[in-house]
Formats: sequence, C-alpha cells, structure tokens
Amino acid sequence: MSKIKNFEDLMHHQIADLVSAEEQLTEALPEMAKAASHKELKKAFQDHLKETKEQLKRLGQVRQELGMKSSEKATCKAMKGLIAEGSEAIKEIEAGPVLDAALIGAAQRVEHYEMAAYGTAVCHAEMCGLKKVVKLLQETLNEEGNANKLLTKIAEDSVNQAAIDEQMSASQK
Ligand SMILES: [Fe+2]
Ligand SMILES: [Fe+2]
Repeated sequence: MSKIKNFEDLMHHQIADLVSAEEQLTEALPEMAKAASHKELKKAFQDHLKETKEQLKRLGQVRQELGMKSSEKATCKAMKGLIAEGSEAIKEIEAGPVLDAALIGAAQRVEHYEMAAYGTAVCHAEMCGLKKVVKLLQETLNEEGNANKLLTKIAEDSVNQAAIDEQMSASQK
C-alpha cells in the first residue's frame, strides 16, 4: 500500500482495493457456478459474474473521475480470504444441497463485504461532492444488495429445505 496521507489518498486506496476485490471475484464466480447444483443458484452466480464485469468497468470510470494513476493498485486481502473459504467448501463438501447452502453462505459473506466497502466509498464521495462518482458507486452498491437478497431468497425458498430433506432421508435408511 502506498502512503495514505489524506482523505483523497484514502479514497483512492479504497477504490483500488475494490478493483482487486472485483477482479478476484471474476475468477471465483465461474468456479462457484460450476460447483452449484441448484439451477437458480447456478444462474445467480453466472448473472452476477456478468454484473461484476460491468462493475469493474464502472470502477474504471471512477478511477478516471478521481484522476487515479495506473500505479495506484491494491490487493484486497479480505476478498482473498472470503474466496478461500468458498473454495474450501467446494473441496470438502460433496455436490448437492449442503454444498449449495455452503456456497450461498460464502457468497453472502462476499456480498456483505462489498456492500460495506461500496457503502463507505459512496459516503466518502458524497462528503467530497463527487456526484458522478457517487452515482457510479451507488449503482454497484444496489446490485450487490440485490445479489444478496436473491441469495437469501434461493436459500429460504428451496436450498435449505433440500439440505434438511437430504439429511432426513439419509438418516431413515
Ligand atoms: Fe461486485
Ligand atoms: Fe457482488
């Protein structure tokens, strides 16, 4: 991390960190989609991958608006850890509703992290009167919120019950 001396530096760093987070996600989401058995969940991951690519473009616009240099880069360690936990689940749990439930849990941790990060970035941009930046970041923040809500819906409507049913039928054998 380059030296952060003022609020502007902090904003730049936070945007660079988000770029890293979204880049890591574009690598991880195809794996999660592949591992998911539930159709709607698989589609949710595939759709969010498309959205994530657009979010990266938006961050590119934000970087331009802020006049960030190409050398201003960061590595999002939090996203590294969150993705590692998802990969662990894929390795350790057999494909089916229990893995789907674990994938939803992992993905919701990711969405909440993003919601927190974009929420902070929106707030900082608002404080600096950067209207265009606020608009771009808010658009992504809304998408992350919707992605999170969809995951909750899939879990509550079917995946969690399917995981319980699977356990029940296994114990009756
Ligand atoms: Fe995102
Ligand atoms: Fe997301």
